[in-house]
Amino acid sequence: MTRHLIMDEPARDRVLDELPQSLTGTPMDRPEGPLKVSGTATYAHEWNLPGTVYGVLARAAVPKGKVTEIGKDAVMALPGVLGVFADERFLRNPAQGTSGEAPIQGPDEIAYLGQPVALVVAETFEQARHGANILQLEYDTAADGVFDPEATNVPHERPEDDQLDQGDLDQAMRDAKFTVDQVYRTPGHNSAAMEPHCSIASWEGDKLTLRGSYQMLNYNINELADSLKIESENVRILSPYVGGGFGSKLGIAPEAVAAAIAAKELGRPVVVALSRQQVFEAVMRRSESRQHIRLAADETGKLIGLGHDSLVSNLPGEEFYEPVMQATHFLYTGENRRMNMEVARVNRTCAGSVRAPGEAIGMVALENAMDELAEASGIDPVELRKRNIPETHPEKDQGYSSRPFAEALDEGARRFGWDKRNAKPAQTREGEWWIGMGMASAARVNMLQEAKARVILNADGSATVQTDMTDIGTGTYSILTQIAADMLGLPADKVETQLGDTDFPRASGSGGSFGASSSGSAVFLACQELRGRIAGKLGVAEDDLVIEDGKAGGKTLADILGGDALTGEGHIEPGETSKEKRQATYGSYFAEVAVNGVTGETRVRRLTAVFGAGRILNEKTATSQCYGGCVWGIGMALHEELMFDHRDGHLVNRDLAEYHVPVNLDVPQIDVHLLEERDDWASPIQSKGIGELGLCGAAAAVTNAIYNAVGVRVRDYPVTLDKLLAELPEI
Ligand code: MOS
Repeated sequence: MTRHLIMDEPARDRVLDELPQSLTGTPMDRPEGPLKVSGTATYAHEWNLPGTVYGVLARAAVPKGKVTEIGKDAVMALPGVLGVFADERFLRNPAQGTSGEAPIQGPDEIAYLGQPVALVVAETFEQARHGANILQLEYDTAADGVFDPEATNVPHERPEDDQLDQGDLDQAMRDAKFTVDQVYRTPGHNSAAMEPHCSIASWEGDKLTLRGSYQMLNYNINELADSLKIESENVRILSPYVGGGFGSKLGIAPEAVAAAIAAKELGRPVVVALSRQQVFEAVMRRSESRQHIRLAADETGKLIGLGHDSLVSNLPGEEFYEPVMQATHFLYTGENRRMNMEVARVNRTCAGSVRAPGEAIGMVALENAMDELAEASGIDPVELRKRNIPETHPEKDQGYSSRPFAEALDEGARRFGWDKRNAKPAQTREGEWWIGMGMASAARVNMLQEAKARVILNADGSATVQTDMTDIGTGTYSILTQIAADMLGLPADKVETQLGDTDFPRASGSGGSFGASSSGSAVFLACQELRGRIAGKLGVAEDDLVIEDGKAGGKTLADILGGDALTGEGHIEPGETSKEKRQATYGSYFAEVAVNGVTGETRVRRLTAVFGAGRILNEKTATSQCYGGCVWGIGMALHEELMFDHRDGHLVNRDLAEYHVPVNLDVPQIDVHLLEERDDWASPIQSKGIGELGLCGAAAAVTNAIYNAVGVRVRDYPVTLDKLLAELPEI
């Protein structure tokens, strides 16, 4: 039986706060941790299926055109080579992971340099790689590609539903006492998950099993089936362990489709792993952005106007674009508003969701501009933000759900020691190092997604949680175990959580920070269903049932079950509460940096971050997510930048030697503090998403601190030393 809840009303009860046991929220260790650190958790490449052969993708060496000939014969003559596959069903791009619809098809039409066009399969990986390397491709390249999003020869589109013109911003800019009118640029980013994409496809008759590394199996199963032109009932995906995703594994990717096509043809399991370079070139990138921000404030610093126009890019025909102004819409007040989105169509790798799409870069530009307004108005940056917290949504008739924004700003300032900051730039020096402090707000939309889960109360009184939900390093195994354990009055070691199998009830998957709340709510509902059944057996009302230490009504659960297992399913769906209230998560960042007065090198010395994300389900894994977010913020501020050659669109820095992510020495001990919060509008367990919140604005705290340190405002990310050198103050 299924307990089904559509979130049409705020939760009436805070059930998890009223149970005798409160494991949920505690920093419980990951139950799967020992498997991971001992190397026995099975990641996508590690399933040893008998007879598995190896596939390596061959990719286009031109950025636009058609493949006219594939030199199969020469490659087929090589030792060990079993097949060269090029098929109209190959993916041009990874799917985006939320529509469940077939992604755009066909490799014969080349849209970017590095696009997969063929798969060479051989007995060994080395043989396949050699074959893919020497495969001769002939092209028709009559049409020219376009590569620079800001160049005049590039077509631009304006998505209709992302244009806002409210009041008169131009007039507000003229009327304002203080204004900021600046353009900020952020480069493209790569998710750079530790585990590159990998899929093993195997068939039994018409049934395909794909062992892969994916975030949203419930959608991926349809994307894969659509791509192959088969029914999704015939597809099973297994992804019990995923070595990081950050958006790159939201949608089915080319290696999965190619592996499935080849495995069917050869009658053997085929494994296709992407190299690091292939991940960079053929999986999602975050779009670069040009963001024009205008702020108009009265003499008290209160915004009377706010403009945020953005230019991002994607391939022709792709629906996704980076939703840069997502949080700008609701974060600050200002009645005159303009937010226009423009998408340039370029022949670069497909742009898609990379951790916190929208806010990750949009909040950074907005928070830089707010820092500039603070300086222009002489108002403290924390105070300025607090003065601009709106009472209701500034663009529509909508209130807010739980919103500890001011609290996060105050608590961050207190923990960091913000009162010690000198607002005047370039005043503090230690030897050749200039010291500066900066801050920024954090905000990220909250979403609840449809999710299902099953909880089995086994005859021995232990429990098993089953859902196709994934754990991409986020802590899903922990939090689902904690929720089920509390609801069923069991210790954590009596609950086994099984994930990542599409034969289980389908959950939200991991994306958009909605995974924990959505799948957690489904498990919560499944347990409520079980509690109802147990109450029935005991002849008590469900609300009066108390299960503690595996016992209820004086009997053990095993006794109550009488030798039979009991199964409950839970099903959560978003409803009216997501329309009635603007649901979001909030926070603050405070950074102290040292900028070398001779070399221009920046070191982040301290970073304090405070976040409110509703009920925290596991303090340790939630905090770890925030640490990760802040590290992304440091990377965005100082290091990370995809560099495309404007002559042919090829990605120049396509590995971790050239695409710089922060390493240990770049990251100080980060102080993350999570606020105590319950959001009854967000989910029946009062939790909201937290994963992505940790980087939504983080980079701005660092670059605002750089400005405070040396008085140089760099509006073109990342702030590498070459951009500071010429303007550094004399030491
Ligand atoms: Mo996320 S970028 O939706 O994994």
